[in-house]
Amino acid sequence: MEKVILDMDPGIDDALALLLAISSPEIAVQGVTTVAGNTTVEKTGLNARRVLEYVGRGEIPVYYGSSSPMTRPLTTAEHVHGLDGLGEAKIPMPRQLPSLGGIQFIAETVANNPGEVTLIATGPLTNVALAFILYSRTPRLVKRLVIMGGAYHLTPYGRGNVTPLSEFNIYTDPEAANIVFNSSVPLTCVGLDISTNPSVKINRKRYEAIRGLTGKKAELASRIMKYQLERWGEVEVHDVLAVAAALRPEIFQTVEMRVQVLTHSDASRGATVAVKPREGEKNNASICTSVEGEKFFELLLSRLSEPG
Ligand code: BDR
Ligand code: CA
Repeated sequence: MEKVILDMDPGIDDALALLLAISSPEIAVQGVTTVAGNTTVEKTGLNARRVLEYVGRGEIPVYYGSSSPMTRPLTTAEHVHGLDGLGEAKIPMPRQLPSLGGIQFIAETVANNPGEVTLIATGPLTNVALAFILYSRTPRLVKRLVIMGGAYHLTPYGRGNVTPLSEFNIYTDPEAANIVFNSSVPLTCVGLDISTNPSVKINRKRYEAIRGLTGKKAELASRIMKYQLERWGEVEVHDVLAVAAALRPEIFQTVEMRVQVLTHSDASRGATVAVKPREGEKNNASICTSVEGEKFFELLLSRLSEPG
């Protein structure tokens, strides 16, 4: 079983990604660290615990990480995820609060298990960047980092969702993303190029298939997805694809690229410029350009039907 830390900002699709991860026997979730992004870090931490306790997995630790991006004010996305960040579905509040020390938890878990821990980051990269800077051995000791972030303009779907150039997680903390992309960590990127491809979206038919399953996980998934389904007629499951890419790399296609993150404070803020490396130049990221949509959905459906 692969040791995994999930760094996230739940968030409806983060919560679904968490459900997929804890239902997958291939991986052992060591803990969840949360970051400010879709909503405040207080709420993202509570939301991770709400999800875990609801499905009977309250033993998985949750840690608060950073409450704001490295250098910029926080921009949240409650208009996408609801005021509570979980689709206002009245999911009960947790009995236990998250612990403090998310950044330290990442660094210590990686240091105690050199070369064995996969990080999956589905929010702004603030916690990961701080773990890499404050504990400088971390990027060398991580097995690999899989992120949901970026709009690479490599497919017809690779346009930004905050600005035409920039995706939310990178836009929110471009300085952190810049540190991560320059860290030499083995990096796989799930960006909007695949996560907004219609073949992976949860349309009404797929939603009904999830709603028809029995068990707490599927019930929770359909309750929180309802918010987006009712507004937009479909649910974008960006972050779930990052977990799927860690679990099932064989259903994804990737290209090796050299990515530069733009950190200006103009219309290019948070753009992820991907170019083919020149002869002798190193790539710094494997970017997902396609995924077998039906296989992805089958994986999600089968795991959500798992009890406990
Ligand atoms: C990303 O932004 C957030 O709103 C989602 O949770 C996802 O991580 C998509 O751009
Ligand atoms: Ca997210």
